Amino acid sequence: MFNKNNNYSLDSNDKRYVWHPYTQMKIWNRGSNKIIIEGDDFYLIDQNKKKILDGVAGMWSNVWGYGENPIIKSMQRQLSTLPNSTLFGLGNRKSVNLAEKLIKLCKGMDKVFYSDNGSTAIEIALKMSTQYWKNKNNNSKKHLFLSLRNGYHGDTIGTMSVGFVANFFESYKSILLKTFRVPSPKDYEFKYEVESEIVDKCLDLTEKKLKKYSSKISAMIMESGAQIAGGVSIYPRNYQKKISELCKKYDVLLILDEIATGFGRLGNMIEYEKQKSIPDIVCYGKALNGGYFPIAVTLTTNKIYKAFLGNYKDKKQFFHGHTYTGHPVGCTACITNIDHYKKTNLIVHIQQNSIHVQKKLNKFYDLDIVSKIRHKGLLTGIDLVNGKKSLNFVQGLPINYYIMKESLKRGVYLRTLGNILTIIPPLAIPRAKLDILIDVSYEILYLLDKEISNIT
Ligand SMILES: Cc1ncc(COP(=O)(O)O)c(C=O)c1O
Repeated sequence: MFNKNNNYSLDSNDKRYVWHPYTQMKIWNRGSNKIIIEGDDFYLIDQNKKKILDGVAGMWSNVWGYGENPIIKSMQRQLSTLPNSTLFGLGNRKSVNLAEKLIKLCKGMDKVFYSDNGSTAIEIALKMSTQYWKNKNNNSKKHLFLSLRNGYHGDTIGTMSVGFVANFFESYKSILLKTFRVPSPKDYEFKYEVESEIVDKCLDLTEKKLKKYSSKISAMIMESGAQIAGGVSIYPRNYQKKISELCKKYDVLLILDEIATGFGRLGNMIEYEKQKSIPDIVCYGKALNGGYFPIAVTLTTNKIYKAFLGNYKDKKQFFHGHTYTGHPVGCTACITNIDHYKKTNLIVHIQQNSIHVQKKLNKFYDLDIVSKIRHKGLLTGIDLVNGKKSLNFVQGLPINYYIMKESLKRGVYLRTLGNILTIIPPLAIPRAKLDILIDVSYEILYLLDKEISNIT
């Protein structure tokens, strides 16, 4: 049992020592679980040398799969040149180079603040917008946030407060910050047939809230382009653009969260540009670093930055920093990653594959258990139902465990979000492997459809 090379011991020691995220450990501890040892191409390889095609992209971050590439090589070189150096009191070359690259890439942005993951990038945005108003006017009452229902921005206390997904965060409600919330397009997707009616309804409610409370609201925060964790909801045309106009009208900052949707997931490098909505603050993580290093960024404008300038004693400086803020290996990963997007024309590759996926998804509508297909770029969500109800359990197991088990049996890793089966592959996945992910998804759902129609 304690032999390092013994495969059995890895699974059992995992159960003995490791607590997995978002996991009911009682179910996990009963299972025979896969422990990943290596990566190869777009496959993960488990303790029994079984290859698993990744349909989750390392929780939506992986871009290039798991083989050798220039990004990994540049990180290796960086480790031998300068493995780390803090940004407290010092600069480092790679954090300068990356900031310059990002500012050239992100229209309207002027400054970059570094952190280690998406949640902290958002926490920084929240603190930045709060202090912005305070620095401008010490008596400012603008210290609350406005956010969208079904939004998700991370798992820390501030991010849970603004991104409340009831299903996840009910237990923590008592410690969350007071936040104003307005419905998101997802709340009306089955109530109105025409997209523009959904937009009008959402904008009307948002404007009412802003009109009443803008003196208390420092910023509105939302995911850019689509909500993913809250139910794979792709925004209707013009929604985000008009929200950004409302924020300007009521003098409320706009924070856009592109952590999961930027860098190509929805088929565009910078989603807010495509949505014609320049934010005051925007956050990136996940695909920004290719999935290779925990680094995230919060970008903002000179307008915000300048409010933080003053005499030392004024205490206008931004009181935030992490041990690994601006980590040179992470910055190197991002720099080479961005260069590799350009060299390989990755965004065009994603857009072409997206058209292919769209065509392949149509046949899923033949299945009674499929009620809606949500798709943009390389983000796919398939709503599963049993009659009129959400399909949340199968064979006594939550649907997520069932889908994971069935897909892993077939050499593929897939997950669900609630009753939505998601296909979120590494962005550079070649077409043939994308087909495998879609075909295996179909096979699992086809068999499930049959099983359910036999029971009912
Ligand atoms: C939109 C969005 N924001 C923020 C986060 C939090 O990122 P992290 O898990 O790196 O903290 C996520 C993670 O899934 C996300 O989807």
